[in-house]
Amino acid sequence: MFNKLIKGVVLVFAVVILLFGSLKLKPIFAETYTQVQTWINSYGDPNLNDDKLKVLADLQPGLGVIMQEIGRRFTAIYFACRAGNWDLANYELKELREAQEVGEITRPKRKEALISFEEEFLGSAENPKEGTLQDAINKKNFLVFNRSFKSAIGGCNDCHKSTGFSYIKYKLPKSSELPLEFFLEKEK
Ligand code: HEC
Repeated sequence: MFNKLIKGVVLVFAVVILLFGSLKLKPIFAETYTQVQTWINSYGDPNLNDDKLKVLADLQPGLGVIMQEIGRRFTAIYFACRAGNWDLANYELKELREAQEVGEITRPKRKEALISFEEEFLGSAENPKEGTLQDAINKKNFLVFNRSFKSAIGGCNDCHKSTGFSYIKYKLPKSSELPLEFFLEKEK
């Protein structure tokens, strides 16, 4: 009796799975997605007209999206350094610079400000200027890092002010596990 019941349940499941498989259910966005994917794949094709390029351009992340990544990585750099995980800090800084570089392409208006922020506060493997995060991470010195991190926060917030977003103030969260909302300082 019990065995029969199990067999029955298995049979019903098998029929349901087969039915769904044969229906080939397509998500609603499938058509749009396939179209865009075709344009991406045909990059370089002379028939790719400006309308299609515009759609592709509009799909690229703007600073609002990129800044969320920058905020998260910036915080990750701090907690990695505090834990003495210099390799992780180095990795997060490299990824943060790469996120910035996407912003320099998608928002050319902000390119100059982003590049000077990088030179002054982030530093790079080629140009680890004294006082930058890169310099402190290379030196593996938390006290040096803490100083450069504080001035980098000033750099972040100065740019927010000068671009009309003075209400976006980065603040280091107390724990590395808090969501982004807590990075932003309350209005005084
Ligand atoms: C080139 C100037 C500039 C620099 C430098 C800059 N930001 Fe921003 N940030 C912006 C702008 C502009 C916005 C508003 C986004 C938009 O344009 O929609 C923003 C928004 C943000 C946001 C809010 C994102 C959201 O939508 O939730 C965070 C968080 C943020 N920035 C963090 C940082 C941190 C951390 C740094 C420094 C490591 C930094 N920013 C450096 C210009 C800058």
